[in-house]
Amino acid sequence: MAKKVFPPAIVFNPAPAIMVSSQGKDGRANIITVSWAGVLCSDPPMIGISIRPNRYSHGIVKEAMEFALNFPSASLIEAVDYCGSVSGKDVDKFAGAGLTPVPASKIKAPIIKECPINVECRVKQIISLGSHDLFIGEVVAYHLDEEIIVKTNKADAEKAEPVAYCPGTLEYRKLGSVIGTYGFTKGKAK
Ligand SMILES: Cc1cc2nc3c(=O)[nH]c(=O)nc-3n(C[C@H](O)[C@H](O)[C@H](O)COP(=O)(O)O)c2cc1C
Repeated sequence: MAKKVFPPAIVFNPAPAIMVSSQGKDGRANIITVSWAGVLCSDPPMIGISIRPNRYSHGIVKEAMEFALNFPSASLIEAVDYCGSVSGKDVDKFAGAGLTPVPASKIKAPIIKECPINVECRVKQIISLGSHDLFIGEVVAYHLDEEIIVKTNKADAEKAEPVAYCPGTLEYRKLGSVIGTYGFTKGKAK
């Protein structure tokens, strides 16, 4: 099949859709939807999220140096889009999205009760990259809804129903079916 080449741009199809909760020194909690996010290191567990400096959340996270990742299930898709469309400087997004803030275990920012997976992070480093600043966070605790737990402390993707965002087509999508498991080829070529 013929290919076409394009100038540089982000092509991650899909990217995750994560609701990041934070709390300012004034005690006000906020939520921002982010897709520029990913795993950076296993041990210590480190993740990265990129936030534009003009977002309200940017100032809060920079000041508090902590945040929580809240992984929504598909049923929360309206809240995901809402938290990515309005600013916390104008509205209380917990109230607006009908979400419940509950205390985290190690950080001051609340986690979102309705999200089945919540990951508490402390910021280790902030790197300015251009349009976005990369916040490198170390995972200090995580929460799983009991109903989605498998293998003692892992999340079942079928039950958690994670949301994927396809930036090119602006679509939110659900995961499909299982097509293999890690190492199932045992290194054998076709
Ligand atoms: C699916 C989706 C993904 C987004 N990803 C990011 C992101 O990775 N980084 C970012 O700075 N903004 C991202 N945004 C935009 C912010 O969520 C949006 O500007 C939000 O209103 C900012 O809220 P705040 O001002 O309360 O912080 C995304 C929005 C959507 C809908």
